[in-house]
Amino acid sequence: MKILKVNKSSLKSRTINIPGDKSISHRAIILLSLASNSSTIRGLLEAEDCLHTIRIMQELGVKIYKQGEEYIIEGVGLNGLTKPKKELYCGNSGTAMRLISGILAGQDFESQLTGDASLLSRPMERVSEPLKLMGANLTLENVEKAPINFKPAKLTGIDYEMNIDSAQQKSLIILASMYANSKTRIKQKNLTRDHTENLLKYFDYDININQQYIEINPNKKLCSKNIDIPSDCSSAMFFIVAALISKNSQITIKNVCLNKYRTGAIEILKRMGGKIFIENIKTSSFETIGDITAKSSSLLGIEIPNNKISDAIDEFPIIFIAAANAEGVTTLKDAQELRVKESDRLLAMSNGLNNCGIQNKLFKDGISIQGGEFKGGEVNAYGDHRIAMSFVVSSLISKDSIKIIDTKNIDTSFPNFIELAKQCGFMIHEY
Ligand code: S3P
Repeated sequence: MKILKVNKSSLKSRTINIPGDKSISHRAIILLSLASNSSTIRGLLEAEDCLHTIRIMQELGVKIYKQGEEYIIEGVGLNGLTKPKKELYCGNSGTAMRLISGILAGQDFESQLTGDASLLSRPMERVSEPLKLMGANLTLENVEKAPINFKPAKLTGIDYEMNIDSAQQKSLIILASMYANSKTRIKQKNLTRDHTENLLKYFDYDININQQYIEINPNKKLCSKNIDIPSDCSSAMFFIVAALISKNSQITIKNVCLNKYRTGAIEILKRMGGKIFIENIKTSSFETIGDITAKSSSLLGIEIPNNKISDAIDEFPIIFIAAANAEGVTTLKDAQELRVKESDRLLAMSNGLNNCGIQNKLFKDGISIQGGEFKGGEVNAYGDHRIAMSFVVSSLISKDSIKIIDTKNIDTSFPNFIELAKQCGFMIHEY
């Protein structure tokens, strides 16, 4: 249980680099493992979550190693995975567990996926329900929770209409569809991050995507290519908000993934009056990438539009810090998914803001935050990386120091966060 004490800090203007995108890193590791050739990944996120995905693919018989700055993955082909010797441990990573479920469901060997206490308490019905419709032989150990046990099964393609906005659920169905004996069609409720689809297109896999549905043809050859992973926009957002809420400051972050289903936070913060600019836009392996600059801004409270929620799903903790610094009230509704992330993020942020003197009202599916004087105090990150990093950033507007407990999971997504934050002027002490 690592504790951070952050003294009132002031931000230094900088141009910085942020580590690789977490969602793309997981998918690149998995898909390169299933390819029929070897390829390299540059810019892979070397954070705990992605290292678990690497270890799991290794346990399933894939050779993955580092050479210089690149990871080399010797793909074994769709049907080349082998039975693991022990249970497969996903740590804190919901993305690892859910995506890899899609693959294990279609194997001819038994396996088990497990994780840490937070992951064992998160909903897994979104995994079991579509996979069982495809004929998977899987059981959940606790009521609809992991560990997940898989037995050999032959999968059939399905027509599936999603009733939650989840890129993880969509991706696990896509991965399982590759093992089915007929075509699968997925209809999304609202469109979500499409990194799995983009990588499959880049690898020339037989997938058709239009506004109505995604159609996956099974058992086609997966020919991987080398991939460069851009920086993670969810991680970038901590430094973007840092610049917005600081006086006389400017931060530029290079080469950030700007997938259009990931930029909701930028749009929300701009609506609040945030000065955020994007330059040098280009496309690489079907992903949009650009440089983001954020400058000191006077923020105003807003009602966050419903149609931006899934595009900003990971950024609400740091948006709430911006809201605490805004004039007026910011309200979020219809965001019950935040209750089942690495922590209950509505409750965790509400408690932390209360402890720091920021008035807020918690709803079943959201929160309203009254901008005001941030006094500082003691907050609990509940083992959630994004809650911990958000309260580190809040030290820029805090009157007194902030003590943050249970912060070790920052390493799950952003291993050099503390070092980079210190370079940008944050006065962080670690206990
Ligand atoms: C992710 C999808 C999102 C997000 C998570 C990463 C992904 O989860 O919160 O951090 O890589 O597909 P949901 O699909 O549950 O919304």
